[in-house]
Parts: sequence; structure tokens; C-alpha cells
Amino acid sequence: MNKFVTFEGCDGVGKTAQLEKLKQYCRQFKPDAVFTREPGGSSIAEKIRGVILDAGNDGMTDVCEAFLYAAARAQHLNDIVVPALKAGKTVFCDRYVHSSLAYQGAGRGLGVAWVGRLNELATGGVMPDCTVFFDLPPDKCFERKGGADCSDRIETGGREFHRKIYDGYKEIIAGSPERFEVVDASGTIEEIFEDMLSRLKKRGVL
Ligand code: TYD
Repeated sequence: MNKFVTFEGCDGVGKTAQLEKLKQYCRQFKPDAVFTREPGGSSIAEKIRGVILDAGNDGMTDVCEAFLYAAARAQHLNDIVVPALKAGKTVFCDRYVHSSLAYQGAGRGLGVAWVGRLNELATGGVMPDCTVFFDLPPDKCFERKGGADCSDRIETGGREFHRKIYDGYKEIIAGSPERFEVVDASGTIEEIFEDMLSRLKKRGVL
């Protein structure tokens, strides 16, 4: 069965390493699965990503930022996600609407409901069948990562900003727990991967 699965968590939580392992696993067990990421994932969306993350764009308003993420999402959905789902493939996407709800809605303070409406327009209501949330508070993430990447406008948003994002995720999950698989991301790469794998199997994704 084709599925749309997204992955969420704070910066530095280790999502990239987990998705890399999942990709290797799928080479053997699910070779037609599509791996993609946001913001970006297709050529126009990658250009928008460059504008959003550029640390030189420090005058960007929060509203502009939310619209740019939504614009990149609309393009990426059209170019990559929807065609793959229509072709019967499973799509694994690193970040999606829940990132905007947590980062722009809770973190920037635009409000989860407002950002939700914007994204409803951008996506036409296309939502994932299941979302894996890698659960680790932001101070632990940055500790593990060795600090924020100074060239990234979002990562350098500060401690308070990242704490609001984490709390925002937790509230969003509490609001629709059936959608989420919450994976404890404090263990080793192998432990986290095994937990994620068994959850995806239970959901019928793998
Ligand atoms: P990236 O380097 O891809 O980070 P990560 O590997 O942690 O996913 O940068 C994406 C950044 O954009 C990340 O800090 C999260 C942020 N973001 C939002 O603020 N809103 C969004 O809607 C999305 C998709 C990402």
C-alpha cells in the first residue's frame, strides 16, 4: 500500500542519520520508495530554500518566512510527492506541514491555527498518513550537534525560540496522537532506528 510518511523533530535531533539508514534498508526491502525533504526537494523549491535559510536575510519577516515555506511546499508537492503517490510509491519526506506549525506557528508566534490555514491553502489538504516525531529537547540536540550552524537563519534563532518549537510539537502531537509515532531519540543510532522500524512495520508502511 502506498503511504505518505513524514519525519519531524528539533534541529540536530539526528533525523538525517535515521533517514540515511532507512534509505539503505529500503534499497533491499522497498526499492521504489521515494526519499525527499523540505524545504526544497525539487529545483524551484530548492531555490526558495536558499532564500529562507540564508543567514544574510536577517530582515525577513515571520509572515514572509511562513509564506516561503508554504510556497516551497506547494511546489514540492506538485513536483515530487503527488506524482510519486499517484504512481503507487511510498514517500518518505524529511519535514512537512508540522514543521511549519511548530517553527512558524509556535516558535515565531504566528499561531498554530493561522499557519494551519495557510498550509491548508498551500497543500490543498494533503496530509501524511503517519508522522514520526524524534523526541529530544533542543538543548540536548545542540549539545550532541556541537552548537548551531551559523550559516542557517533558523538554527541560529536562539534557545528560547527552539524551546517554543519543542513545546509546540508536543502540543500538536497531544492534539492528534493517532497521527504520530513518537520515537525516543536519546538512545544510540541503532536503538532509535530499530524503534522507528518496528513502528513503521506496525503501521503497515514497511
Ligand atoms: P535543514 O538543514 O533541512 O534542517 P534539518 O536537517 O533539521 O531538517 O533546515 C531546515 C530548517 O528549516 C530547519 O531549521 C527547520 C526549518 N523549517 C521551518 O522552520 N519550517 C518548515 O516548514 C520547515 C519544512 C522547516
